[in-house]
Amino acid sequence: MLTDIGKMKYHETILGTLGNTPLVKLNKITRGYKGHYFAKVETFNPGGSVKDRIGLEIIEEAEREGRLRPGGTIVEATSGNTGLGLAIVAAIKGYKCVFTMPDKMSQEKIRLLKAFGGDVIITPTAVPHDSPESYTEVAKRIVRETPNSILANQYFNPKNPEAHYKTTGPEIWDQTGGQIDYFVCGVGTGGTITGVGKFLKEKNSNIRVVGIDPKGSILREYFYTKKYSPILKTYKVEGIGQDWLPGTLNFEVIDDMIEVTDKESFLMARRLTREEGIFVGGSAGTAMAGALKYADRVKDKEAMVILLPDTGERYLSKVFNDDWMRENGFLIPDRITVRYVLLSKAKTLPQLIAIDPVTTVRNALDLFKEHDVSQLPVIEKGKAVGTVIDNDLMSAALEDITKLDAPVNKLMKPAFPVIGATAPIEHAIDYLKKKDSAVLIEDDHKIIGILTRYDVIEYMAR
Ligand SMILES: Cc1ncc(COP(=O)(O)O)c(C=O)c1O
Repeated sequence: MLTDIGKMKYHETILGTLGNTPLVKLNKITRGYKGHYFAKVETFNPGGSVKDRIGLEIIEEAEREGRLRPGGTIVEATSGNTGLGLAIVAAIKGYKCVFTMPDKMSQEKIRLLKAFGGDVIITPTAVPHDSPESYTEVAKRIVRETPNSILANQYFNPKNPEAHYKTTGPEIWDQTGGQIDYFVCGVGTGGTITGVGKFLKEKNSNIRVVGIDPKGSILREYFYTKKYSPILKTYKVEGIGQDWLPGTLNFEVIDDMIEVTDKESFLMARRLTREEGIFVGGSAGTAMAGALKYADRVKDKEAMVILLPDTGERYLSKVFNDDWMRENGFLIPDRITVRYVLLSKAKTLPQLIAIDPVTTVRNALDLFKEHDVSQLPVIEKGKAVGTVIDNDLMSAALEDITKLDAPVNKLMKPAFPVIGATAPIEHAIDYLKKKDSAVLIEDDHKIIGILTRYDVIEYMAR
């Protein structure tokens, strides 16, 4: 029975759980490096990312200024996380949300925004930021067309860095007891690094603030040269890097910038998860990989804090999906085996489409058509016994239509060469560059797949 609500310990809304995220010591990943390393784990925010911190600030400012009134709509161009931070506040306060998102973002993020009742509009990634099709320009157009709506405007809204100046920075200062020498952080809008960097430098101007930039972004180049090449390069890591300069990024609080590739980012996100037990997304991997590139400057008694922006659950279909990692060339073993290339094949076809010798010509022709292939291995009791070619079957059927009901074994050619799954891909190439148009792959005395010339060329071109 509830007699005194004052005795209960609870939050008025889920927003009460915002911030005060834990600082966690890193143990294995940093083994062998001088100094002490701590992760600021932003996954603990209610929406699972650092960007939850800016949603409330931005919305309450718009309410105070009378720009957002009851029943209004919040519009934002987002890589997903800011949208989620806004959507949580909107759910509690009863606003509608419309989000524009570039098409490279994960399905998980799109579904998350929809789960909170947001409308999501997907825009192309590979367009300049000022193109009318870009996610930022589409968001602006929606605001112009929607009465009682605001653009949260994370790229220019001073409330974005201010939220970090008011919360993330002081938390890190308190949690370290002021014993911090380096703050390392990925840069997207620059809100986090600008707010935290300003706060920490006001406390101690010797603290070095290091920004991490994905390869393909222009921010690092601009930081050092005050110029950037206008050539648009895309990269896969989400939430960080730019092809332009956001208004919320103040380079003056940054001392150094380090570049990290997609592959380094994703492999490091997996290491953080598997070695430290901290389940994080790709941009956390970028920050951590950058931190280790910088770590040779760290001295024994110094401490570095690395901000890990969001949870790995948002990237289960990408960073934590071996097929996606392989298809994009991020999981490469030292020696490329035929099994590796087989697994890297786009999953539009089954690994092996085969027929047995008594399959009729009619059924074989149906299979050719169904899978849009021109040759099929004939397999009997796990062994390759021949090959059928669509043209051979069609010529035979045209000559004598009753052949449609004959078994294919009367019309087959010799079987493709068979090679073991652990053989190097060069073995397959030796066959394919001569007369054989495909090779069969065997594992544990069973044929498990086929590699055609096209498959291997496609793999090599990637
Ligand atoms: C996954 C992820 N990491 C990092 C960031 C970068 O933070 P900031 O925009 O404060 O620079 C974002 C921003 O959207 C993000 O979504």
